[in-house]
Amino acid sequence: MAVAVHTHLASPGRIGSLPLRNRMVVTAMGVGYSNPDGTVSERQIAYHAEQAKGGVALIITGATGVAFPAGGVFPGQMAISDDRYIPGLSRLTEAVHAHGAKLAFQLHRGAAQSVLDMFAGRPLFVPSTPLPEKAAAPPFVAEELAAMGGRTMPQVTFHEMTLQDIQLMVRQYADGARRARERRRRRDPRRPRLYTGLVSLGRSEPSDGRLWGRAGEQGAFRPRGDRGGPRRGRE
Ligand SMILES: Cc1cc2nc3c(=O)[nH]c(=O)nc-3n(C[C@H](O)[C@H](O)[C@H](O)COP(=O)(O)O)c2cc1C
Repeated sequence: MAVAVHTHLASPGRIGSLPLRNRMVVTAMGVGYSNPDGTVSERQIAYHAEQAKGGVALIITGATGVAFPAGGVFPGQMAISDDRYIPGLSRLTEAVHAHGAKLAFQLHRGAAQSVLDMFAGRPLFVPSTPLPEKAAAPPFVAEELAAMGGRTMPQVTFHEMTLQDIQLMVRQYADGARRARERRRRRDPRRPRLYTGLVSLGRSEPSDGRLWGRAGEQGAFRPRGDRGGPRRGRE
């Protein structure tokens, strides 16, 4: 890698207690290389191993489903929603470590943009039901639909999250982090990044006992009084 002139970029870095060999990071990019059941594929291992060989310090995986297949945001997404995924995740990590890079899983549960829910006919989890004009706007361009198998956009339905849904989602993120830590205890000094796919498509009045604020308000996606809840993130 020709980095001689970029001395700072090439110098060792650190994120918290995680030492990095330089300052180059591959941002989260879901490439859809996992097996249809969410397990890690050989192609995916080869892909991330090549990135590590290239000399980057840290690779962040694409969105990795904590509730997979629910909340999945693209076909071929990687899953961390069950202990049975741990062996594949471990192999992927070992392949990256073999070339001196670190690996971080982007823990994720899609909501209003969950492609897998849309095409499976599952209601989309939302903090508040989108206004009709927002809900009618197709979230994909024709090329994206073609990449999903040439299918036309299905009719989608929405589900306003209840307190129980939120508690379940928090547990799913915690379980995903626990699975990542199980690998870490065995071999991997990586730290997972917590990430949510909650987005607001519009404003509407809350219709139940949800603890969330109104969509669009500061902190709207965080349970009040719970500093350990999921943080709002980008899709
Ligand atoms: C093919 C592709 C897949 C992506 N998948 C994710 C993803 O799974 N999670 C995420 O947070 N960002 C995702 N992103 C966004 C990138 O991580 C990055 O933030 C974005 O490309 C902006 O960086 P850039 O300006 O250098 O392109 C994706 C981007 C691309 C091009």
